[in-house]
Amino acid sequence: MEKTIDESIQGSAIRTKNDNQNKRNLYIESYGCAMNFSDSEIVASILAEEGFNTTPYLNDADLVLVNTCSIRDKAEQTIRKRLLEYNKVKKTRPHLKVGVLGCMAERLKDKLLDEENIVDMVVGPDAYKDLPSLIKEVDSGRDAVNVILSKDETYGDIAPVRLNSNGVTAFVSITRGCDNMCTFCVVPFTRGRERSRDPHSIIEEVNELWNKGFKEITLLGQNVDSYLWYGGGLKKDYVKASEMQKATAVDFAQLLDMVAMAQPKMRIRFSTSNPQDMTMDVVRTMAKHSNICKHIHLPVQSGSNRILRKMNRLHTIEEYFQLIDNIREILPECAISQDIIAGFPSETEEDHQDTLNALQRVQYDFGYMYIYSERPGTMAGRKMEDDVPEPTKKRRLSEIIALQRAHCKIRTEEHLGKTQEVLIEGTSKKSEDEWMGRNSQSTVVVFPKENYKIGDFVNVEITNCTSATLMGKAIGYSDNN
Ligand code: SAH
Ligand code: F3S
Repeated sequence: MEKTIDESIQGSAIRTKNDNQNKRNLYIESYGCAMNFSDSEIVASILAEEGFNTTPYLNDADLVLVNTCSIRDKAEQTIRKRLLEYNKVKKTRPHLKVGVLGCMAERLKDKLLDEENIVDMVVGPDAYKDLPSLIKEVDSGRDAVNVILSKDETYGDIAPVRLNSNGVTAFVSITRGCDNMCTFCVVPFTRGRERSRDPHSIIEEVNELWNKGFKEITLLGQNVDSYLWYGGGLKKDYVKASEMQKATAVDFAQLLDMVAMAQPKMRIRFSTSNPQDMTMDVVRTMAKHSNICKHIHLPVQSGSNRILRKMNRLHTIEEYFQLIDNIREILPECAISQDIIAGFPSETEEDHQDTLNALQRVQYDFGYMYIYSERPGTMAGRKMEDDVPEPTKKRRLSEIIALQRAHCKIRTEEHLGKTQEVLIEGTSKKSEDEWMGRNSQSTVVVFPKENYKIGDFVNVEITNCTSATLMGKAIGYSDNN
């Protein structure tokens, strides 16, 4: 169950419509979080203006870009293996250039050029607008690096092209970077300080998506609850903003409200929430709008207060439970999911038991669970010994996963017998004759196709389920259609 986003889409990406005038081929692969997939759409958009079409075939590529993830060591190892594959192709296509983008580029900088001699270009997450000139550098035979992190880059002015799109669901990024400095996490170092995107450019992108036929968007940020627009600049500099800027500032609850009203038939999701920053205003805004989906991804990381403190998560487990109770009071139907790390430095059996107890207390709908992976440069990497033995970490993880599985089943079964609105995203993986979509809570629903089509909102009577998938029968279009 270890994953950041759907494993089936990790890897190469193509754009649906290419431009005949473009003469060079870009092969772009993305790994890691949804933000990386969204960034690759920005990159493809920038390069479409530079004469590049996307190709799904590595062997046809003139330029290979890999958008990388550094969150755990395993993610970086996967990418190093991919680089060897690109190298094989380079032997038969000597003009082929390879660029590493994203978090691994930012973390390793020009060291990547020495360590992986197949790499021609290293570009950090805030430097994508510099790609045209960096490509000119590598075309003339020099290596090129830009890993400068920015105070205000949000790519708000770039209309992303949609890669591998189902034409129904899309990501819209709203903040970049993170200021939270959880001690285990490399993101503040690879993606820089937190800044928010102009709400008008967000609304414009949402409207454009609606006009193109999209029916659901996910607002993306490392910590969406921290969204704050006061005219531009870093979140940490808000204290220096003028009275006028403060009076007209837009926070996440207000942004959600604006987006929900701008497109009342568009489904809205968001990710990721953070327990220390999530406000009840956000929850009330979710309750106010039926088009905001009832699902909150609320990572807990650990159930032990001692470990939460060492992780620099700025809340106690009791405060977290209180937040869950408050959410459920206002949104009784809301699905809640988690991220958990097993085996953080100094974690004892008692701490681990606290995590299992927290799972039991909340009974999450689903979750993403990981073994702690020490990241160089982070506070935990520098100051704490990675002292939980590997077999212990693995055993604890499997206990956490087993309990979560049981809860997944309980939560999935709660939908049985209900009629729920489902947005059709595509054909079911298991059967050509069935559609696959999601209910508001993000649970996958499959049902016979009949005459419905992709992008329809249908009411589905839920008749059966496995531990994570609902089965049913459509009984008609929903009011939203
Ligand atoms: N706020 C981010 C979190 C990014 S990382 C978001 O938008 O999702 C996603 C998850 O990876 C974290 O919640 C955490 O559970 C896990 N993670 C982060 N650093 C890790 C590490 N060093 N070892 C293991 N898991 C880690
Ligand atoms: Fe990482 Fe914590 Fe931010 S997990 S992305 S530092 S909220």
